[in-house]
Amino acid sequence: MTTVDLPLLPLGRGTDLSSERGVECPGDLPPASDPDLVARALAAKEKLGDRVFVLGHHYQRDEVIAFADVTGDSFKLARDAAARPEAEFIVFCGVHFMAESADILTSADQQVVLPDLAAGCSMADMARLQQVEDCWDAFAEAGIQDQVVPVTYMNSSADIKAFCGRNGGVVCTSSNAQTVLEWAVDQKADVEGGAKILFLPDQHLGRNTAVLKLGYSLDDCVVWNPHRPNGGLTAEQLREAKMILWQGHCSVHGRFSPDTIAELRAEIPGIQILVHPECRHEVVTQADLVGSTEFIIKTVADAPAGAAFAIGTELNLVKRLADRHPDKRIVFLDRTVCFCSTMNRIDLPHLVWALESLVDGVVVNRIEVDPDTEHYAKVALERMLELPGKTQND
Ligand code: 13P
Ligand code: SF4
Repeated sequence: MTTVDLPLLPLGRGTDLSSERGVECPGDLPPASDPDLVARALAAKEKLGDRVFVLGHHYQRDEVIAFADVTGDSFKLARDAAARPEAEFIVFCGVHFMAESADILTSADQQVVLPDLAAGCSMADMARLQQVEDCWDAFAEAGIQDQVVPVTYMNSSADIKAFCGRNGGVVCTSSNAQTVLEWAVDQKADVEGGAKILFLPDQHLGRNTAVLKLGYSLDDCVVWNPHRPNGGLTAEQLREAKMILWQGHCSVHGRFSPDTIAELRAEIPGIQILVHPECRHEVVTQADLVGSTEFIIKTVADAPAGAAFAIGTELNLVKRLADRHPDKRIVFLDRTVCFCSTMNRIDLPHLVWALESLVDGVVVNRIEVDPDTEHYAKVALERMLELPGKTQND
């Protein structure tokens, strides 16, 4: 088995443009204190008109969301990007893997821009192609490869999506994980020994969906550790498992804990615990409601005045919900501040720089997936987009 050396580059110091890891912004950024930034962003957007379409993930800062033409979770944004063939430029205010997906789903003459290339995702970085290929080879050695459908969470790099596309697999998001896993199980229903799923890279979304939606037991799930020989598992364990979870997690959602839930329930009677499925299983099982960012927003919006929620997701979104619903009590499900540091890399100076550069005819920070990767990643993405209607949000 090949060992993959993965030194984490400090954000903003790397040079590895093809990875999720950050690189320096090469341009002249306007200073963050510039009082004219809002006017400059408005003017640049106005000049670009329909040539530009700005997408904003729900975890983005307010100052950036203010300029988004649409906001959404990663599933909705992928669909929205694909539905805008007339826009020459897609400015993606989110993270690198989302911009890659937008590039894959848009036409070749549409250019996708990520205002700061250092906006990566630590979870996506936890699954590298060589590691996943080693894992796949180990499945062949254990005699189970024919039973396995690889499923990758949207939060993965394009080459991992392409791996899934090439190997009969699919992409899922936090809105449609159940539908996608059911589809994956069906693909191998007739194979001797039954279906197994390799779920990349978020072990928590995989476990939560398998156990809480598909009725698997915790014992049906094993965790593949890419840093240990044979994933730290025996061939016997692989043969018995129904769900092989990649050992990856979100550094933001991994912080929430059952202790805080108990404290908040004692402190605020009637409070509902509303969490994202990237949270750990012991948090999700203690929660009242679980769902994607889009689901969280809808749940709060639909609740009556006076409702109280402790929300376990990224802080920019929780703060925005609290501001938007002053008639409801919204608290954050962590005692400390917990922003996604890479999502936060996109700020108004970077957005202004990207938009003004486009006005000047210069496309900065273009995200372009190579044609072969794009082809197979699109196979996996389109398998997901073609699945019948039901996401949690529809
Ligand atoms: P969704 O947008 O699918 O809810 O995922 C949350 C997230 O962590 C995005 O990085
Ligand atoms: Fe990645 Fe988690 Fe940040 Fe989403 S919130 S971009 S999964 S680190």
